[in-house]
Amino acid sequence: MNESVNEAVEVAGHTEAGHRHGAETIREALSVLRESDSVGGGVQLQQVHKSYGGVKALENFNLDIRPGELVVLLGRSGCGKTTALRSLAGLEDIDSGRIVVGGHDVTGLPTNKRDMAMVFQAYSLFPHMTALQNVAFGLQIRGVGRSECRRRAGEMLDLVGLGDQNAKFMHQMSGGQQQRVALARALAISPKVLLLDEPLSALDAKVRVSLREEIRRIQLETGTTTLFVTHDQEEALAVADRIGVMNAGRIEQIDAPRKLYQSPRSEFVATFIGLTNRLPGTLLGGGKEALVFGQRVPLVESSVNAGSSAEVSVLARPESISLALRQEGSGAAPTGANATVERIHFLGPVARVECLVDAAVSEPLRAGVSGATPASASSVVVQLSAAEMPVELRPGADVVLVPRPVPALAVGR
Ligand SMILES: Nc1ncnc2c1ncn2[C@@H]1O[C@H](COP(=O)(O)OP(=O)(O)O)[C@@H](O)[C@H]1O
Ligand SMILES: [Mg+2]
Repeated sequence: MNESVNEAVEVAGHTEAGHRHGAETIREALSVLRESDSVGGGVQLQQVHKSYGGVKALENFNLDIRPGELVVLLGRSGCGKTTALRSLAGLEDIDSGRIVVGGHDVTGLPTNKRDMAMVFQAYSLFPHMTALQNVAFGLQIRGVGRSECRRRAGEMLDLVGLGDQNAKFMHQMSGGQQQRVALARALAISPKVLLLDEPLSALDAKVRVSLREEIRRIQLETGTTTLFVTHDQEEALAVADRIGVMNAGRIEQIDAPRKLYQSPRSEFVATFIGLTNRLPGTLLGGGKEALVFGQRVPLVESSVNAGSSAEVSVLARPESISLALRQEGSGAAPTGANATVERIHFLGPVARVECLVDAAVSEPLRAGVSGATPASASSVVVQLSAAEMPVELRPGADVVLVPRPVPALAVGR
């Protein structure tokens, strides 16, 4: 059996000459596919360390994936996402730590004993085989009988929406279709764990969006425990049960998308997911609230301690700030910071309004706050629903920015 694998890989290697990883990627994809008897299971990576020479790719990396869960690792290029995935698959030897799959310690076990299937960023398919043959091949190398291979492969191609494309060769398929075939091949073996390394990054935007929905639908349908790696936050928010935000070889915070957005535990996470404004604030009694532009704003749990400093920066989302027009002669304006509208981006259901806080006018607001320092950035983005947007709002308009009582993270100045 190994001979036929090597032969196929060689052929692919030649056909794909010029492809960056061609044969190597195919070889790895197949080594992950071989031999698995599968029952759904959770995954734990415990205190994993992995260095490449002087580079610490994973440093005390911890991750616990529940059975049937889809966890996304999200982070910038080079933060260790691929290393985490490859370590879990057994494609990298870790320096220390433990890896557990379905309750079994698999640390040090070879790839083919880990019951996993991987879909790579680059397509790892055999160009000289049809879609059906590509999917069947993963089963074939595990000794599944010929007719059963074909039946199961056909079933998987149906699942990924390619039921009528069985006989096509890879060069006759689009990038999106090829990635569907790769997904079908990975799922055909009913892996305990499905690993996806930026599976959509080579595709154009429209295909990316539809295929990520498809991957999520199939994952829910099959109940496959899945680890999905991406650097695209929108993609992560769209598919994940939980997102682990990675920074320098560690997970900085792992939570459901909504929790991550609403209760970030660090400035890194708050600024990595979504937009955020850095507003000057003063801690109030016990550090559970801060005074921001004269308004009380509740603080999320991970905010700086009351003892550390009275002057803080409050990280407020654009939709956590409201805005009112300042009109001469009209009644008392709400308490807030005077500002001028710079730009308005009307997005249909919502509008983003860029404002410049008027330092001179907002000075009296800070008078009551001893030792207050000016805002580090005087530019503030406010997001309003279309219904909330004052009709006369124009660039150059004088407005008051009023923080809403929505929990926010306070960090040191
Ligand atoms: N085979 C390797 N040899 C040397 N350094 C590597 C190797 N693989 C990854 N690295 C380094 O380890 C760090 C993490 O890489 P990687 O896990 O690929 O990050 P990501 O997938 O998040 O972009 C980076 O600094 C990268 O340059
Ligand atoms: Mg990577």
